[in-house]
Amino acid sequence: MDSVVERYAAAAHAREDALCCPVSYDPKFLKIIPQDVLDRDYGCGDPSTYVREGETVLDLGAGGGKICFIAAQIVGPEGRVIGVDMNDDMLALARNAQSAVTAAVGYDNVEFRHGRIQDLKTDLDAVDRLLDGNPVKTASDYKALESAIARLRTERPLIASDSIDVVVSNCVLNLVADHEKPTLFQEIFRVLKPGGRIAISDIVSDRDTPAHLKEDADLWSGCISGALTEAGFAEALADAGFIGIALDKLEQNPWQLVEDIEYRSATYVAYKPDTSSAAQARLEAIYTGPWEQVVDEAGRIYRRGERVQLSGDAASALRAGAFSSQFVIFGEPEKGCC
Ligand SMILES: C[S@@+](CC[C@H](N)C(=O)[O-])C[C@H]1O[C@@H](n2cnc3c(N)ncnc32)[C@H](O)[C@@H]1O
Repeated sequence: MDSVVERYAAAAHAREDALCCPVSYDPKFLKIIPQDVLDRDYGCGDPSTYVREGETVLDLGAGGGKICFIAAQIVGPEGRVIGVDMNDDMLALARNAQSAVTAAVGYDNVEFRHGRIQDLKTDLDAVDRLLDGNPVKTASDYKALESAIARLRTERPLIASDSIDVVVSNCVLNLVADHEKPTLFQEIFRVLKPGGRIAISDIVSDRDTPAHLKEDADLWSGCISGALTEAGFAEALADAGFIGIALDKLEQNPWQLVEDIEYRSATYVAYKPDTSSAAQARLEAIYTGPWEQVVDEAGRIYRRGERVQLSGDAASALRAGAFSSQFVIFGEPEKGCC
């Protein structure tokens, strides 16, 4: 969408207050991040708190790179962070800041790639290079370009399948056109390793946004009218194949109120099932409460205190942060006792 490109190009050069939703990040990670990046903070949550040492992290819509630079410090020299953004000016802001961060931490584990998050196969810098040598003047040139891009997407995708431990994002998914959102969630699923997870902060609404608000370019580029509903976001994840979906954080107070619709910040976590043979081992789980019963995305019912047979991938979803304290899982390799 043109309005999104234009607005964030301008917001890369000068801070736009209307795009800033107050977030507090761990100050110890901010010390080494250049001030011009911190000034252009257009996030609405802090998904970096879900990242662990040694992981490969993908940040969708990295903007000036703040979350990538925080994650770079958490994953450490053995980990890797990739930020993707479609905006030349935002990419320039992030790439220019990278050497200062690298010098301060003493290792270089971040890179910023040029692409659209609903198409994590097409490397737009590679497309630029193709066009440089082969300007498109005729329909034949255009067909040749299409074939070259198709080859690039297969042979050198921007983000390879099954390559990422955790996908994070901060206030970006709402900006993707509604008709492309299903593809966006499928792309996130594709790039994650089996058993990988997402921690995505975004703006969500308490009910559907009507068409006339969606057509308002300012509201859309301002991270408002493209928002999914609280339930719609979880459904989109389930439709793409995610399990263990949790609305891990939801602000009490709305960030914006438009025609009585509340728009607020939320953070979702979810897992890509691990279908490897080890993950398919048969295990048993007991739900310990406090509810009488709970149901997972596969429709499996866990009654309090009752043993339920499940596969390793289902067990890994239960073991995940939001649920782990409510289940005891039997049949896993001993991790030692006492
Ligand atoms: C609201 S800002 C958030 C930036 C950053 N995550 C932060 O926390 O400051 C949205 C960013 O997403 C980028 N963006 C929007 N739509 C995108 C898309 N479809 N593909 C890639 N980047 C996109 C914009 O260029 C902009 O940098």
